[in-house]
Amino acid sequence: MLEGKIFYKGSFIEAGIEIDNGRIKRIGKLVKGKKVQGIILPAGIDVHVHFRDFEEKRKETIETGSLSALHGGICLVVDQPNTKPPVDNEDIYFKRMEIAERKSYVDYSLNLALTKNNADRIEDVLRRISARYHLPAIGEVFLENKNKKLEVGYEELSKVKGIWRISVHAEDPSLVKSGFPNFLYRPKEAEIIAVRKCLDISNFHFCHLSTREAVEIVEKTASSFEVAPHHILLSTRDFERLGNLVNVNPPLRDKGDAEWLLKNFSRIKILTSDHAPHTIEDKESGSPGFPGVETMYPIFLRLAKLGIIDLRDLVEKIARNPAKLFGFSDYGEIEVGKFANFAVFDLKDVRKIKAEDLHSKCSWTPYEGFEAIFPKMVFIRGEEVLESRTRIGRTISSHFSSGKEI
Ligand code: NCD
Repeated sequence: MLEGKIFYKGSFIEAGIEIDNGRIKRIGKLVKGKKVQGIILPAGIDVHVHFRDFEEKRKETIETGSLSALHGGICLVVDQPNTKPPVDNEDIYFKRMEIAERKSYVDYSLNLALTKNNADRIEDVLRRISARYHLPAIGEVFLENKNKKLEVGYEELSKVKGIWRISVHAEDPSLVKSGFPNFLYRPKEAEIIAVRKCLDISNFHFCHLSTREAVEIVEKTASSFEVAPHHILLSTRDFERLGNLVNVNPPLRDKGDAEWLLKNFSRIKILTSDHAPHTIEDKESGSPGFPGVETMYPIFLRLAKLGIIDLRDLVEKIARNPAKLFGFSDYGEIEVGKFANFAVFDLKDVRKIKAEDLHSKCSWTPYEGFEAIFPKMVFIRGEEVLESRTRIGRTISSHFSSGKEI
């Protein structure tokens, strides 16, 4: 039982929350409990993280990535399957889930990769996995990208059409070249054209859209999409500051694009970090990707405090919409019947981000010096887990009632 300033149905109320067996039983002014200082928001959900592990433990592990997520107010992540080796069959999928059961600080879910290795038996793989686990999506599907192991084409995509949500990294490979900095070699058109080609086949979940044009195309369809913080907060101008660290896929865009995304924040469906950690040495040889699972909620909460974005929008994009879109029906809102997953913030406690304070294995951040409001407490299924560093992360099984909405 706890009491405080709760974000409930789109505004704040002073009330108490009664928790029973990890779920919210009652919310009301008459409910008494331990007083919590600050504001109580739904804990975030990040449906696009790369926690590496397996053969890339030097970059990140499920343990360190999830600890970083926890410190960023995130209670549930969806990990991406472009691991080494990739998660494209049931054995690897189950192996990874077993690691998560033992090591994850936050609740954990995993997408399946569609690759040339599994394209001809994809329905069988899906059936075996979904008998045990809640599978949010097949993704991150690369469209004949440079990563040969994950190479699939538009034809393979159409085979799984309509069965599962398919999350696509939409950059047309024929328009993508390699070179540094990569924003000079991966033009906006690569994204816009890939989005159009996909929409000719079906509806998808589009990962990390980075251009105004792609957002404007996708929002008119039944497809969903996410935008990552770096495409809103950073631009090609940050090359001067970031130097060798600047590469990310899709690449940083011009200042005008980033400004448009910030100004139109309310139109974004889901905010995801695309947490893609690489060591400094790997960055120096051009590896694309930024860490971000720990800084996303804190930076955007600071923007909400400053009135640059609306707090209701933030909660919608970081908790409510990802829960709805990926079928995590027990998550995403402070509401009777849902899991008691909260992040507690003191809006007065604004801090400058320093890489050395973060918990990812990756020892740097593109947001060095940015102002942020980090959570003071995080509750997962009713248990305070941030201060206590309790590891209660769970994988999401298929018994879980899925209320997927497209
Ligand atoms: C991703 C990664 O490192 O896994 N990097 C990124 O910049 N988003 C893979 C990718 O999307 O290229």
